[in-house]
Amino acid sequence: MENEGTVWLPPANSTIAEDVDGLFYWILDTSIIIFAIVILLMAVFTWRYRRRGKDTLTPAKDHNNFLEALWTIIPTGLIMVAFFWGFSGYMKMRVMPLEGTEIKVTGQKWFWSYQYEEGANLTNDFAVPVNKPVTLTMSSADVIHSFYVPNFRIKMDVLPNRYTKVWFEPTHEGVFDVFCTEYCGQAHSEMVGKVHVLSEENYAAWIDSVSRFGEDLPPAELGEILYVKKACVTCHSLDGSIVQGPSFLGAWERDIQLTDGTTAIMDENYLRESIINPRAKIHVGYQPVMPTYQGQLKDYELDGLIAFIKQVKQQTGQ
Ligand code: CUA
Repeated sequence: MENEGTVWLPPANSTIAEDVDGLFYWILDTSIIIFAIVILLMAVFTWRYRRRGKDTLTPAKDHNNFLEALWTIIPTGLIMVAFFWGFSGYMKMRVMPLEGTEIKVTGQKWFWSYQYEEGANLTNDFAVPVNKPVTLTMSSADVIHSFYVPNFRIKMDVLPNRYTKVWFEPTHEGVFDVFCTEYCGQAHSEMVGKVHVLSEENYAAWIDSVSRFGEDLPPAELGEILYVKKACVTCHSLDGSIVQGPSFLGAWERDIQLTDGTTAIMDENYLRESIINPRAKIHVGYQPVMPTYQGQLKDYELDGLIAFIKQVKQQTGQ
């Protein structure tokens, strides 16, 4: 079935989208019809009961039981329809399925990470199988974020010190946008990702490859991939421009002024500490806003990132 979006809503790509869209369009159509009736009657009455001469007075009007009952009963009925329709859809959304894929989602300034039961740990982009329920258990490492996939019609706040859950069952293969929809600071608008909906075989192959990704790559090459995949790119440029954090251009083995008045050298140990425990040593002129990558990078991935940052110096510093 062809599945196009409309001017109101993007394409519907999950099982609950039907309920959400049905109710949305019903409320929209009802509102348009009521709006048209009200405006039309207003125009007719304005014309029909206009003042026709200097001495015409509006006759005194009493109430009309039939009309008053009508305009009470009809809206009450409409509201009841919206309530029960909405409630049944809400229950479907809030009762988690007992089977399917489970993924742990973490929101932090300013990226999403996904921890799979198979061991894969991904940033911003993740994948799920088509026509299978997926449950996300979510929490935040810092402030309130909100996980939003418009095509699936799901949105749920992601809070520090608490787990929230959301589920969906994708109905189409494809790539869909993930947004953060709770203002969470300077780079909130860059806290975006993609969910890839794959066929069952492709998903099985994919989860197998990402669980072991990068072990056989040269470290600097792996680091270059991780620089983008782990969202370092959001805050650290390679061309010397200052985004949220220091640029990696020519950073290697440079002396750094720290906010506590001492200096450090940008070497393997400084980088490792800054990735795992970013608030330990803060570069003068920058805010301590970097999140920790503790538990999100394997040792060989850390080595890869360090090898890559080293290279940014070699390529451009000559
Ligand atoms: Cu995270 Cu906005």
